[in-house]
Amino acid sequence: MPSDSGATTSPWMHERAEGFAPLENDVRADVCVVGAGITGLTTAYLLQRVGRAVVVLDAGAIGSGETGRTTAHLSNALDEGYCNLERLHGERATRLAAESHTAAIDQIEAIVNQEGIECDFERLDGYLFLARGDSAEKLEDELGAAVRAGVADVRLLPRVPGVQSLAVPCMHFPRQAQFHPLRYLEGLARALVRDGGRVFTGTRVAEVRGGKPCRAVTESGHTVHADSIVVATNVPVNGGLVIHTKLSAYRTYVIGVRIPRGSVPRALYWDTEEPYHYARLQRESDSHDLLIVGGEDHRTGQAHDTRQRFERLEAWARRRFGADGPVVWRWSGQVMEPVDGLAFIGRNPLDAPHVYIATGDAGQGMTHGTIAGMLVRDLICGKENPWAALYDPGRKVLRGSAVRRYARENLNVARQYARYVRRGEVSHVEQIAPGSGALMRHGPGKIAVYRDPAGSVHTYSAVCPHARCIVRWNETEESWDCPCHGSRFDPHGHVICGPANARLEPVYIEGITDAGGLPELPERPGPRTRPN
Ligand code: FES
Repeated sequence: MPSDSGATTSPWMHERAEGFAPLENDVRADVCVVGAGITGLTTAYLLQRVGRAVVVLDAGAIGSGETGRTTAHLSNALDEGYCNLERLHGERATRLAAESHTAAIDQIEAIVNQEGIECDFERLDGYLFLARGDSAEKLEDELGAAVRAGVADVRLLPRVPGVQSLAVPCMHFPRQAQFHPLRYLEGLARALVRDGGRVFTGTRVAEVRGGKPCRAVTESGHTVHADSIVVATNVPVNGGLVIHTKLSAYRTYVIGVRIPRGSVPRALYWDTEEPYHYARLQRESDSHDLLIVGGEDHRTGQAHDTRQRFERLEAWARRRFGADGPVVWRWSGQVMEPVDGLAFIGRNPLDAPHVYIATGDAGQGMTHGTIAGMLVRDLICGKENPWAALYDPGRKVLRGSAVRRYARENLNVARQYARYVRRGEVSHVEQIAPGSGALMRHGPGKIAVYRDPAGSVHTYSAVCPHARCIVRWNETEESWDCPCHGSRFDPHGHVICGPANARLEPVYIEGITDAGGLPELPERPGPRTRPN
């Protein structure tokens, strides 16, 4: 399956996803869902089960965004940590957070069983183990907070069972789960279509309008009229700047190491390092498993050493799991970190009636996406949901540490504008290897210069159209990434993911732009929302 979100691919993408036709006329539906990842398809599936006529639109194939790049840990061991969540939201809200993730795993299991989806879903144990230099108190505090949050049967163990090299204290979370995310999405889509739902891929939404009815207008000029629209793109492209000041985009790196089958027990693993590492197993063949290991996160567009990050992951996998097989997969993904550790799911905080958003996966996209499906279904159906206030996109960031994090993350964004006055990364195009990109100074501004594999030079404005930060080349994913709010663009400047809703502007520069590199491509805006 081709990837729409970067140059690398994950093992999930190796299998070809079922194709759907693009939308070629105007249609009417009860609900239009924009985005066919786990959030969009779960929402569509659950709404259809309660009798809503649903249309799903996606610019790419199903699961071709971040769902195809997850490691698919299904867990109520929350990445933010129960101690932190309790500090940020209080004990009652933390209980609701734990309950919602537990319910999401149960919901996925129920759908898998009901629809007979063959996606390697399995229940297994999870272990949060101490990183080097961390004290056992850290785990004791986390255990106390998890117990107060109502997480069932958590306990401390003196070492991780069955892993010789992990003779360190750990916290055991029973009844976690894992699956093959794209096979699961295929099952959801199949069930949706079987029961009358409509899915259109290769259909980019250019505009979302709230109102009665709402309208989703595609790039090719067709309109879906609907009572409600759910924007289930990973990053909200319709939340204005307000929501993006409460979210930070991070890149996370993943490797797959081939190991003899059974040499590491099948379980979910995390350590307590900052940023933390995460691991799981996936069956590769009768004789081998993949040990999938991730971590080494950094703010999107703010690191150049992506290759070294893979090397550090490999060293960690070998040290912590004794994995001595070859690294057969390398990929990266994008994580949206909400400033207070919980996703934003619910009514669009802008004045866009009947438009809903879901974003801020906080590293737990599979459960947050499923929570979004359950919560948005209830909101649309006018049914009370106990998680509505917890995940409300319009909630205020009130507690001390969240306010400090909010200030720190936004100061970081403000600093990115200093790149306007910095020197370019190269001064001659010959310094850019074919198949790569770099920033060059041109007059008072910066240009994003891409040399294609044949050596032709293509030039674009380096200014991100969202809020005018300067983008940066990502050598691993061969994309231009924005360091402010995480918009990403392909080598030719087309939007991969928002919040930007327009491409990097092509520019022609005498003596630099090759004739073969002249701007050629039509505008491909992402979705945006306007109130009626
Ligand atoms: Fe906001 Fe680029 S994503 S300025």
